[in-house]
Amino acid sequence: MLNTGSYGPTPTPVFEVVTELRRRLAAGPTDFFTRQMPPLLWDARVRTAEFLGTAPERLVFTGNVSVAINLVASGLRLNGPGEILLTDHEYGAMQWCWERAAQRQGLTIRTFPLPTMAKDPAEIIEAATRAMSAKTRLFFFSHVLSPTGLVLPAKELCAEARKRGIVTVVDGAHAPAMLPLHVDAVRADFYTANLHKWLLAPIGAGFLAIGAGNEDRLQPLQVSWGYHPDRPAKFSDERDPYGSTWRTRFLEFEGTKDVGPWLAVPAAIDFQTSLGWDAIRARMAELSAFSRAKLVPLGLKLATPDVPGMHGSLTAFELPAGLNAVKLREELWKHRIEIPIIERPDRMLIRVSGHFYTTEAEIERLAEVLPGLI
Ligand SMILES: Cc1ncc(COP(=O)(O)O)c(C=O)c1O
Repeated sequence: MLNTGSYGPTPTPVFEVVTELRRRLAAGPTDFFTRQMPPLLWDARVRTAEFLGTAPERLVFTGNVSVAINLVASGLRLNGPGEILLTDHEYGAMQWCWERAAQRQGLTIRTFPLPTMAKDPAEIIEAATRAMSAKTRLFFFSHVLSPTGLVLPAKELCAEARKRGIVTVVDGAHAPAMLPLHVDAVRADFYTANLHKWLLAPIGAGFLAIGAGNEDRLQPLQVSWGYHPDRPAKFSDERDPYGSTWRTRFLEFEGTKDVGPWLAVPAAIDFQTSLGWDAIRARMAELSAFSRAKLVPLGLKLATPDVPGMHGSLTAFELPAGLNAVKLREELWKHRIEIPIIERPDRMLIRVSGHFYTTEAEIERLAEVLPGLI
């Protein structure tokens, strides 16, 4: 199992919590939604915000990063004419969100090439600042690149954009648990991530953290009971009777929905906290080094910098040209190896995820099988 990067498996203690919540919901939905859930939702918001380094009043739960990016891309008004700036390594579906937003708001899209094998974060900052112009209204980038696992200097990139009056939206899909993340220290206008990848929360747990000063800039994706016509002109940060605040409920509430994955986030935090974050991150670093040591000698070119601070627990390798990706995926699965093959415009990559439960034997098995397939 070398693909935590796509989906994290749910550990037994977390599964038990979310299953017990579902059992209670099934047994008495009215009691669950009206009496049991509000304090649990508030507790989950406080615990998640504390873990992420942000404020519960600015933490909107979502089902995943896609929902969070859609919320910003659809609900934020930008001053046209102008452009939305992206790196050339953004997650495909997120790029489409910005393409549609640009089209709707009369803006253009521009991407710039990232130095994905940079030896120093300064090279990335330099490439990004060179790409920013007087026309740039918004800069969207990943904290950790999906195809290669490169970690971008998010705080510095947001600071450069802020100097130029550019709104920042950060896709931190892989960051929570992989990196020692403090969301408010990044100072993005909007920061979003998944909790169902490296944090191992149940599938359906993501968030949008609204940067201080941006509290009243969004409209919800859906109008439901959070969208109160008589809501105060300026939202109050006071806790409401539903486990939210006026603002978070305005953006978050979708009508009747099983929010068990959000309520189980504290269990996921507790689970890995009990193992120890330093131990987990040391193990991740060990596994990245092990992947490099096993796969580079096979002739595969490393696609993730081997520089501390510029990679986490994703390590990508370039595959030889001319391979059939569909066939290669099938062959790998015949050997019961779960790993993504990523097709980029200029090359094909194989990406190893190493979490604390990944074993050297799994990586060795990949190294044994791969030469016969490529
Ligand atoms: C960088 C990045 N952004 C966004 C997503 C989308 O995540 P989700 O499908 O959970 O919305 C992913 C998923 O792999 C990702 O890697």
